[in-house]
Amino acid sequence: MRENLYLIGFMGSGKSTVARELQTAHGMKLVEMDEQIAEDAGMSIPDIFATRGEAAFREMETELLREIGRGANTVISCGGGVAMRPENVELMKKSGKIVLLTAKPETVLARVKNDESRPLLKGRKTTEGISELMEQRRPAYEAASDFSVPVDGRSAAEIAEEILRRL
Ligand code: S3P
Repeated sequence: MRENLYLIGFMGSGKSTVARELQTAHGMKLVEMDEQIAEDAGMSIPDIFATRGEAAFREMETELLREIGRGANTVISCGGGVAMRPENVELMKKSGKIVLLTAKPETVLARVKNDESRPLLKGRKTTEGISELMEQRRPAYEAASDFSVPVDGRSAAEIAEEILRRL
């Protein structure tokens, strides 16, 4: 059985789209972390942040990773903050490979500008605002990943194929 494949990276870097491509074109099982957490909690991500707070959300992410780590041959579209917690990185490393998707702030902005589902982007929907948070996160993303793949101007199919080739 193949190991799990964890896709990490900034919000709007295409983790969900590439994960779906790996599911449909390459037969992997899929876990979309945000969706799974919202389903388990019975409320949306913005509602979890608003009523239970970010710390509770981060606990839910770690709990879900523990569960995912018991399976295999699954592609996991991780929330953008997952790789910021060393405990999460350990859990992922133990059960699979970690691939970082990188995107330019302009690419992210174009994708998230009309989106209200990401509490951390509130008041940050400018190239500078995105760039600032991206730079804060970059070292942790890079340290966590086995390798990274740039997404700008490329299709999900191309990106998925590059990932599988390099695994
Ligand atoms: C977050 C990213 C989001 C979601 C939550 C927090 C982050 O996931 O988990 O809003 O801290 O970067 P996506 O990367 O799928 O948007």
